[in-house]
This record gives sequence, C-alpha cells and structure tokens, in this order.
Amino acid sequence: MCGIVGYIGKNNARITLIEGLKRLEYRGYDSSGISIHNGNEIKTIKSVGKVSNLEEKINPDEFRGNLGLAHTRWATHGKPSIENAHPHNAGDITLVHNGIIENYQEIKKYLIKKGHEFISDTDSEVVAHLIQEENKTKEFEEAVRDALKKIKGAYALAIIHKNYPEKLIVVKNSSPLVIGIGEDEFIIASDASAIISYTNRVLYLDDNELAILSPTNYTVKTISSNKSLYKEEQELDWSDEQAKKEGFDHFMLKEIHDQPHSIQDAIRGRIDMDNGMVLLGGLIPIEERLRSINRIIIVSCGTSYYAGLVGEYMIEEYAGIPTEVEYASEFRYRKPLLDKNTAVVVISQSGETADTLAALKEAKNKGALTIGIVNVVGSSIARQTDAGIYNHAGPEISVASTKAFTSQLSILTLLTVYLGRQRDMSMVMGKRILSELQKLPSLIEKILKEEGSIQKIAKKYADFENFFYLGRKYNFPIACEGALKIKEIAYTHAEGYPAGEMKHGPIALIDKNFPSIVLAPKDSVFEKTLSAIEEIKAREGKVVAITTEKNKDLSVEDTIFVPKTLEILTPILMTIPLQLLAYFVGTERGHDVDKPKNLAKSVTVE
Ligand code: F6R
Repeated sequence: MCGIVGYIGKNNARITLIEGLKRLEYRGYDSSGISIHNGNEIKTIKSVGKVSNLEEKINPDEFRGNLGLAHTRWATHGKPSIENAHPHNAGDITLVHNGIIENYQEIKKYLIKKGHEFISDTDSEVVAHLIQEENKTKEFEEAVRDALKKIKGAYALAIIHKNYPEKLIVVKNSSPLVIGIGEDEFIIASDASAIISYTNRVLYLDDNELAILSPTNYTVKTISSNKSLYKEEQELDWSDEQAKKEGFDHFMLKEIHDQPHSIQDAIRGRIDMDNGMVLLGGLIPIEERLRSINRIIIVSCGTSYYAGLVGEYMIEEYAGIPTEVEYASEFRYRKPLLDKNTAVVVISQSGETADTLAALKEAKNKGALTIGIVNVVGSSIARQTDAGIYNHAGPEISVASTKAFTSQLSILTLLTVYLGRQRDMSMVMGKRILSELQKLPSLIEKILKEEGSIQKIAKKYADFENFFYLGRKYNFPIACEGALKIKEIAYTHAEGYPAGEMKHGPIALIDKNFPSIVLAPKDSVFEKTLSAIEEIKAREGKVVAITTEKNKDLSVEDTIFVPKTLEILTPILMTIPLQLLAYFVGTERGHDVDKPKNLAKSVTVE
C-alpha cells in the first residue's frame, strides 16, 4: 500500500530517500514526507500530492544527515493531508509505517489517558506514541519490542530516535520489507524497486522479525524472544521494471497473486469471532438506521457491478433484505423509487467513476441512505456517501480490476453478516461464514500454485474467438466477470450467461469452435449446471469446467479444481482461475495486459 524508504550510511540520506520515493511513485500515493537525522535532531517535512512537491519544499542545507526515513502514503486511516502524511513523530521517536493496526483505537484511548496528544487520524501515529510511552522506562530497542507486543495487525515499520543518530530499527509483520546492503550503507524499502539501482544484495525480513541497522552493520532478531537470527542474503538479478512488479511479468499477474493479502487486509480487525459478528467502524454512525432498512439497491459499473450482483444473492439469502443491483449509468437516468428506508450501496474501486458518482447524487437527492464500498480513501464517492467501508486492497495498477474485485466480494460478505446479525441470522451461522471467510487467503494460495496447469489450458484455447462463460446462482455474476476479463485482456468475444438460460436461445451458437467455461462448484445447483454441460457436449461444444476439488462427477474436455468452501464464498475462489485464464490468453496473444487498448483505469467521464 504505502511506500517506505529508509537510509543509514556514509552518504547524504536525503538524496537516496528522494530517489527511492520517486522509484515508488508507480504504486500510486496521495502524499509524501521525509525525516532526516542531522546528528543532533530529526527534521521532518511533508507534502500532499507529488514527490516533486515535497522536493521543492526541502531546504538541502537543513535536510542533511546520514540517517533518514521517507514515505509515500496511500491513505487507509484518515484522508490525504499533511497531518496524516508520514513520517509520524512522538517525542524522540519518528517512524514510517505500511500496513493496518487493528487495535489502534484501543491503544489510542490508553495513550490519551496517559496524556498523549495526537495530531493525525492515522493508526501509524499511535505506534509512534506507544513506543514513546515505552521509551520512558526502557531504552530504544526494548521500547520498540515491547510496543510491538501490544500491537495487532499488519506492519512494516522503520523507526529512528533523536538520541541514536546511528541506529535504524525496522520491523515486519505481514507487510513487505526488504533491506538493501551496500558498501557501508543500508537502504531499506517496502519493495526492491527503491533499492535496485544502489545494490542487488538484499535481505528479506520474515514476519515477526526486527533488524537493527548501524552504518556498517546489522543484526536481525525475533520480536517476541529477542533471539538473534542468521539470515541468508540474496542477490537480485531484477531490472528496475521487474523490481516494481516484484519479479512478475505484469502488474496484473502480481495483483492476482496479491489476493491472499488483499483479502486478509479487507477482513483484518473486522471480525468478532466470539459473537459471530462483524465490526465495521465506518457504519457505526448509521448502525441504528440500518436496522430499519427494508430495501437495498446496489449501484456500480463494470467489474464492481458484478461484485454487486453477488452481493444481491448474499444479502437476500443471509440478511433477508430485498436487494436489487443497477448499472450506475442506467440508474442515474431512471426514476428510481427510493425512500428513507432504502439503502443505496455504491461500489467503486477508484471512488471516482463518473456514472457511479452521478447515481450516488441521485440517490442522495431522493433521501436514500448511501453507503460506499470504496478502495481509494478520500475519493469523491468516499467523501459523498453517508457512511462507508474501505477495501484496504492497496493501489491497483493494472487497468483490469482483479484484487479489488475479490476484496469487494469479501467486504460484501462482511456486510451481509453485519446486516444478517442485526436481523435473524444466528450466532452459529455468523461464526460459520466468518470462519470460512478467514480461510480464503490460504485456499487462494492453493489455487495460485496450480497456475502452470491453468496456463496450459489457456494456451490450448488462445486461438478461439468466442467463449461462453456459464454459472448459476452465486456464480452467474462470476461467469459475467470472467467473460469481461477475457474481453478486456485478450480482446476476444465472450458472453457471461446463467447456465440455465442456454437452452432458451444461446445454445444455437454452440459447436466445436465455440467453447464454454462452466463454473460448476459442488453447490446447491451443481446438478442443474451439470445438465447445461451435457446439453453443450451433445452439440460438440468443448467445456472447461471449474469445480470443487475431488469432484469426480464431471466428464469434460478440461477441468480446473478449486478447494471446497461455503457456497456463499465460492465466487471468490472461482474468480482466481478466470483471472489467470484471461491473463494467460492475453499474454499468449502478445497483448499489453496491463494497459489493454481502449480502456482507462478510472472512467471519470460519462
Ligand atoms: C474491469 C474494470 C472496470 C471497472 C469499472 C468501475 O476490469 O476495471 O469495469 O470495474 O470501470 O470502476 P470503479 O470500480 O473504479 O468504479
């Protein structure tokens, strides 16, 4: 999400840090900042917008020293602003953070009681104050370790102390962090692209590890037991471009592989397993109003629209609230019948899509309660909805949406349980859905390991010009999303259809040159989907089936297996092979998959 750079060594830290920030610009950010230890004190400066804005503000004579930190922020807690930009400072402590601290509100309350004053809305500033609090009675390193023991969540942190001009502490738990090893200097960063032009000797920290760096030396320890560790250094043979993509050929593939993490980040700190409940901070102000909502309309475009369609199935089945889904571009010109008991849920990765924004305004004019599911903090849609839930999926760089989509589905699952538990859903059911949701990241890892066999299937079908994508119930919208993905990336004609509709017309198109990708998990409609498969086979149509592992009740041309989960969660797992199929057909055809022709990442015009 955010970009971190840190420097300790023989050279002027500012130059390396600004260069590092520029190399991290590709990730997208809203503000940046830098701190330099000049031997006596730590000087900090921050800016909203481009790194060049920050650079213009810096007086080089003032910002000179051999130790420093820098950061590009992609907002998660609190809007983009100077106050919320990093580095954050508390007394002698200055730090930069990437990740999400789950229990920051609790810790903040504890620190406020102890007299700490906060200037930002961030979870990161709370960590700086917690270390400062521990540092009142312990030395720097011990204070960091003891503070971390109180923190729950994901973090990569780089921390410096006014009284230690030759010490840089970095820690990692679930957020990436790499240490570049130079000649009498170290450059640390959230990804290797900030480092690669200085050195290709690197060391990756693992979770729950802490490194203490001096200009000439480093030690790595476990956070919990303070045990020193031997870490193998690695040599990266990546180009600048490969480093940005963490070694993947394209951002799209990297983002497909990011999904175990982005789903984890979507649900992090939001599950109260003991009570089978969901904690959504953004909905607290409207909690009571949500109890009286008797109708939901989900409004969105493109991939976000298909997420909405899955949401309709989820909310109606488990929360019992009548739900409709509308294309934003249609909703804005209809005469929607809304009242104060209708909630309009607006889904948008970018938060800037013009049609969705116009639909939101229309819903507000009609007096409906509006709720956003948005990835970009502080975006227009996030600002204009009455309440909202952020995705925390991190910036999505490839034009075609992948990780934002599965993140939207995860948030919709949380929303379903939240609304369901306000109504008739039992605690047992809440717990059941949430515990299965928590397993998804590791199940997705499993699917990603099968990438090679999905690539082979993609190669086999790369020259076909037409595809049906079929599914039923929860997986009908996923069929549509799969078809959209292959259209965007491979420029091939594909139609997403409910499998049961084939016999009402489309089956006329089936022959040996018109393959079907059929989503057939072992769910409540499996037998029905099987009938559609048989009808296609009877007309010489080739079928690629995506089904639940160990399912032997299918005899088709090609099969992709996904792990077993609850029916409501199958859409998230089914999506992964479809993204990979689109990606590999696109690359097989030699397309620039990250920037497909005629498409823009954010559609801010009508
Ligand atoms: C498809 C894709 C688009 C977007 C659509 C809505 O891969 O990216 O279909 O989903 O333009 O964008 P957001 O979610 O930003 O409103």
